[in-house]
Amino acid sequence: MHISLNKTIHLLETGHVVAVPTETVYGLAASLTQPTAILNIFSLKGRPSNNPLIIHVGSVEQIFYFTKQFPENFHQLAETFWPGPLTVVLKVETNLIPTSIRAGLPTAAFRIPNHPLTRELLQRVGPLVMPSANISGRPSATNPSHVESDFGKDFPVLDGGACQCGVESTILHQDGDRWEIIRQGALSADLFAPILGYIPEIHTIKPGAAPTCPGQMYRHYAPRAQLHLSNSLHQCREVVVGFSDRVYPLASRLFCLGPSTDAHAVAENLYFILRQLDEEQVEKAWVDMHFPQVGLWLTLAERLKKAANK
Ligand code: TXA
Ligand code: MG
Repeated sequence: MHISLNKTIHLLETGHVVAVPTETVYGLAASLTQPTAILNIFSLKGRPSNNPLIIHVGSVEQIFYFTKQFPENFHQLAETFWPGPLTVVLKVETNLIPTSIRAGLPTAAFRIPNHPLTRELLQRVGPLVMPSANISGRPSATNPSHVESDFGKDFPVLDGGACQCGVESTILHQDGDRWEIIRQGALSADLFAPILGYIPEIHTIKPGAAPTCPGQMYRHYAPRAQLHLSNSLHQCREVVVGFSDRVYPLASRLFCLGPSTDAHAVAENLYFILRQLDEEQVEKAWVDMHFPQVGLWLTLAERLKKAANK
């Protein structure tokens, strides 16, 4: 159910959960001051309680309330990429943030999103926690109808159109004195080099160690269809998820991600196409993985690998 900005504010302030747009994907929002709504997010999504939530704020100043410990380069990162698809994990004053949000960790993740409606919400309601607005394990929602497909037609959604980025924010944390990427996202690793002086590495889960980004442990981004990944689909006779500038002469059906020359366009379409496979009750599809292993393509490859790995 599409609702107005004023109604969204009213619902958030009275302890309800509302789906709201961001530039990356839709979020399932609750006010930081509403503990029941925050717990409700976990049950609505079927999200494990050990998977923490990102705190969305309207300005860097709002973060100062939760922590005074800022790692080197934090302020340059914030100035360059916020508002935008960057999330930063910081050590926080734990008594100021409910443990359910942090999943008991001594840290919290922060982001300033860049969507005019959500920025206004954050100014008027204050910080909001929001995971992606999808049932856990499903592809994220990039338009209001995706939200309704997961949570029902009566679920309140603030309609902000289709999301511009189409994939989630990139999450950075500091390990020792180096920044690392703990979730690949809309900002590719190379974009951080001018500020950090190096390309941050992508964190790998060490066997036996507690996960640095708990969400990465879970099955993600997956349609019900079984996906198979391939670098060569010229002879494929089955359903293909491929590119608009390529020919798949024998394919029984083509779901088009966009041009193989434009990673941003493909990112914008990715979850839409994964969800379309389900809508059309496709049981099995082959995905064309023949694209450059650089920049945003690396995020897309990671999402497709996770979507295929059931
Ligand atoms: O683009 C986005 O980031 C979207 C929009 C709505 O802002 N949000 C999003 O939230 O993707 P979610 O909940 O689907 O993913 C958040 C990820 C999870 O993998 C979680 O484990 C990780 O952030 N995370 C949250 N707090 C953390 C912390 N303190 N330390 C490490 N990872 C954290
Ligand atoms: Mg998510």
